[in-house]
Amino acid sequence: MLQVLVGLWLVFFTATQALDNGLMRTPPMGWLAWERFRCDIDCEDDPQNCISEVLFRDMADRLAEDGWRELGYVYINIDDCWASKERDEQGRLQPDPKRFPGGISKLARYVHDRGLKLGIYGDLGTYTCGGYPGTTLDKIEIDAQTFAEWEVDMLKLDGCYSNASEQEQGYPLMSKALNATGRPIGYSCSWPAYQGGLPPKVNYTLLGEICNLWRNYDDIEDSWASVLGIVDWFTKNQDILQPAAGPGRWNDPDMLVIGNFGLSMDQSRSQMALWAIMAAPLFMSNDLRTLNSGARAILQNKAAISINQDVLGIQGRRLLKESNGIEVFWRPLSNKASALVFFSRRTDMPYRYQTSLQALNYTAGTYKVYDVFMEKPMPMLKDSTPFVVSINPSGVVMWYVAPSAEWKNEAMSSHFNEKLKSPKFL
Ligand SMILES: *[C@@H]1O[C@H](CO)[C@@H](O)[C@H](O)[C@H]1NC(C)=O
Ligand SMILES: *[C@@H]1O[C@H](CO)[C@@H](O)[C@H](O)[C@H]1NC(C)=O
Ligand SMILES: *[C@@H]1O[C@H](CO)[C@@H](O)[C@H](O)[C@H]1NC(C)=O
Ligand SMILES: *[C@@H]1O[C@H](CO)[C@@H](O)[C@H](O)[C@H]1NC(C)=O
Repeated sequence: MLQVLVGLWLVFFTATQALDNGLMRTPPMGWLAWERFRCDIDCEDDPQNCISEVLFRDMADRLAEDGWRELGYVYINIDDCWASKERDEQGRLQPDPKRFPGGISKLARYVHDRGLKLGIYGDLGTYTCGGYPGTTLDKIEIDAQTFAEWEVDMLKLDGCYSNASEQEQGYPLMSKALNATGRPIGYSCSWPAYQGGLPPKVNYTLLGEICNLWRNYDDIEDSWASVLGIVDWFTKNQDILQPAAGPGRWNDPDMLVIGNFGLSMDQSRSQMALWAIMAAPLFMSNDLRTLNSGARAILQNKAAISINQDVLGIQGRRLLKESNGIEVFWRPLSNKASALVFFSRRTDMPYRYQTSLQALNYTAGTYKVYDVFMEKPMPMLKDSTPFVVSINPSGVVMWYVAPSAEWKNEAMSSHFNEKLKSPKFL
């Protein structure tokens, strides 16, 4: 057994409890409004794109009708700027009456009728980041109750306009308040993104006990530089972050921006591959109504999704950073399998990287390999046999790797088995 793997297993089994709401045993998947639609509240001039019930119904229709739901993309999540600037007479949050005339309950019903779940946004503090009413400590219970009455399924709690001591009290209090409603509500905490420091001054044991996921770092933007900045931060801090993750408790490097304007096809595959390796929540923030077929194919890649959703829930890590700009990421998976990502930071031309499974510390033996983005099985590979992967600039090659004996395992993802029935492989 790989030394690294043994190390990770120990970490995994000694990890403390996850938040006990039974939710998000694999990373949550769905759609979140923020990166693409921001705080566009101009429904008069931009009715298709403004933050309104129309946008969320449109996206729910797309998730339900275009094959996303069946792949696991089930959350439709509202972000900031949904609320009225005033609480109601009972002190409860209420949606903007012009943009959400049907109210949130009705939107939740619409979403549930399509087999999906609804997420909402709040902010621990005086105001949300966009200047809407925040959840101060005295409002935590009433806001949790309001969300539960609306039959919301997930809450992202941001941290603008509060200080460290309020956050230290507020994030655990909201966890208790959500539990007290009796409704299972997935809980995303932005707390660590406001704590910062290098290494991060965050108690991940505590976070895992009170939150299902947490935003660790800066907001993603629609650019490759932003994606790279997040990947850099996550790998730099991987010794701290990696053991914090597990079923029901996930690090969140933020949304998938695939299908927008900033990433090339290769960069889009890189984001998908690295987010899968990192066991990251897969929340797309894009326009599902106009998504091009290339982006759709990447986001709907079944092998990448099943790697992301592996039941062991062990976050992967960067194994190697070569001086030539090539990096190798690795994630252990169930059934003694693993995923490898060969990632190029080069900016010249496809790079022919030579290595072997042995050089990556795989146990001696014969392996079967499935190329995730080529969507095809590769020839059998002995650990000692050198191989070459050709990696495009800012691109990846992603492999699913399993000892050849394990391919017969019943529990092996049906997707891989299906592909492996092809005569070319056997
Ligand atoms: C509340 O917490 C208890 C104890 O941890 C747990 O058994 C229960 O399922 C939780 N309920 C909800 C709705 O999260
Ligand atoms: C945090 O904010 C609260 C409310 O404004 C204030 O009472 C408290 O003194 C602040 N704490 C610190 C450490 O700044
Ligand atoms: C971190 O949180 C855990 C769980 O609540 C607690 O037992 C531990 O003492 C905390 N660690 C530090 C350094 O505060
Ligand atoms: C393989 O294991 C050796 C010995 O523990 C270690 O020095 C080396 O860094 C490992 N290589 C990789 C790619 O993890």
